[in-house]
Amino acid sequence: MERTLLLIKPDGVQRGLIGKIITEVENADLVIVNMRLIHLSREDAEKFYSVHKAKPFFRKLVNFVTKDRIVAIELEGENVIKRVRSLIGTTDPKKAEKGTIREKYGLDMTVNTVHASDSKETARSEIRFFFDEED
Ligand code: CMP
Repeated sequence: MERTLLLIKPDGVQRGLIGKIITEVENADLVIVNMRLIHLSREDAEKFYSVHKAKPFFRKLVNFVTKDRIVAIELEGENVIKRVRSLIGTTDPKKAEKGTIREKYGLDMTVNTVHASDSKETARSEIRFFFDEED
């Protein structure tokens, strides 16, 4: 069994997509083991996305992800990291595969509705970022 982190970004929360996205997760037989609705501080957002610190889009990304609440969801299942990445689609909604969450709801590279961990190592650290070990 593997675990991963899925975030519903501010545009998903503001446009009332929390229920729709959770339904997609449940329909894919993924198990929700932890969930939180939070408003990230700038400092926390910069820490969470620190791998992108030197990128030209970093400031825009931090501004966007701190503009409203987000939902952090810890998921469990076999091969869950890969399965959730397929469920959400590629970063750019315009290039995302048909039927994926980003293709259906994402607007552009920044306003792309969801985030999911991309490796076992990232999943471990991203889960730890939002949830305590004992949660
Ligand atoms: P996410 O999966 O949250 O991980 C990092 C985010 O950076 C990514 O989704 C995008 O929202 C954003 N991002 C990545 N590449 C670009 C880019 N070229 N231009 C703007 N935003 C980007």
